[in-house]
Amino acid sequence: MAFFESILVTGGAGFIGSNFVRRVFKRHRRCRITILDALTYAGNLENLASLLDDERVTFVKGSITDPQVVRTATQGCEAVFNFAAETHVDRSIAEAGTFIQTDVFGTYTLLRVASEVGVKRFVQISTDEVYGSSHGEDFTEATPLTPGNPYSASKSGGDLMCQAFFNTFETPVVITRSSNNFGPYQHVEKFIPLFITNAIEGKDLPLYGDGLHKRDWIYVEDNCSALELIGMRGVTGDVYNIGAGKSQTNLSVAEKILEILRPARSRIVFIEDRKGHDRAYEMDSSKLHKLGWKTEFAFDEALEKTVAWYKDNEEWWRRVKSGAFRDYYEQHYGDRLRKGKAHDV
Ligand code: NAD
Ligand code: DAU
Repeated sequence: MAFFESILVTGGAGFIGSNFVRRVFKRHRRCRITILDALTYAGNLENLASLLDDERVTFVKGSITDPQVVRTATQGCEAVFNFAAETHVDRSIAEAGTFIQTDVFGTYTLLRVASEVGVKRFVQISTDEVYGSSHGEDFTEATPLTPGNPYSASKSGGDLMCQAFFNTFETPVVITRSSNNFGPYQHVEKFIPLFITNAIEGKDLPLYGDGLHKRDWIYVEDNCSALELIGMRGVTGDVYNIGAGKSQTNLSVAEKILEILRPARSRIVFIEDRKGHDRAYEMDSSKLHKLGWKTEFAFDEALEKTVAWYKDNEEWWRRVKSGAFRDYYEQHYGDRLRKGKAHDV
């Protein structure tokens, strides 16, 4: 089946969105890509660099909560891939208003316009976090939604709105729920880039709680290949889990990062836990495997590639880490790090 001739990618200046745009741009030479992004603190045009000069790519600065902007951006697009969201759990614990605005109301606005315009496909990029914490059993697409923090509650609201639009208006929705992504261009507020860049800088690595929380890390390229496939072949109205299938503790990932960057001067420091911290995410992606998808990247190799990318792109992350991020870091980590306990190796 051929890919779409024109797509709208919201949140395309963020981490996964920009990797997805790059993939589609390379693999589908006839596809025109419109990117709609509000350029919040997490959006960065440097993530799209050379692509923006190409006539197949149009960038629109604006919010998915604004129906007028969304209407203009959606015109002529066959499919919508909705990546735009507030995405950081810690920030949602500090203040959830923008999460509700973008992740729920923004998704609703997009759905409404997409239905009016009559798109062929609406791909909602959601998260395994909507299932809450796993307790020894993998999440399947039938696992009830029990979100545990304001971010995942907002994403759940977006998912439910998608299902309501499918049911009520037959909007051709498909929902994807991915596990934790990592790779190039991920914002330094997130665990893996924060630990890599802190280790390069010789700073402490702030590990929450006992460090034994588990995540099923997937390399961003593997997530993007799944999104491309589900966009083309997913059953309308369905949900698809996307996971690499192997969860591991944060402590083990932190140790691997230090091992790759040896001899790093940094220490792992256990700090006060995140409030409401989900203990584990474990995914069953067998429904997606049946569509013909599999991962290409093993975790350890992909982590090495990711560390190499951050070493090669210091200017990019040093800019992101300067300015407002410095204040965020001091406010969020300052006291906790001062009261933290270094890990004995
Ligand atoms: P990100 O924070 O790196 O990027 C989000 C992008 O959305 C930014 O470019 C930002 O400017 C834009 N944005 C925010 N509010 C907007 C608005 N109102 N209108 C238009 N644009 C807006 O996020 P990411 O990690 O790339 O995540 C992308 C999507 O994937 C999100 O929907 C997220 O919930 C989902 N997801 C992420 C992960 C992960 O591990 N990163 C895993 C599962 C699902
Ligand atoms: O599971 C998918 C989700 O993964 C996405 O929906 C979210 O958008 C994305 O941010 C991510 O959420 P997490 O909360 O799992 O990711 P984060 O990188 O913030 O944290 C990963 C783990 O590392 C988590 O158990 C918390 C821990 N952590 C995180 C940070 C930032 C630390 O121990 N120290 C830290 O400084």
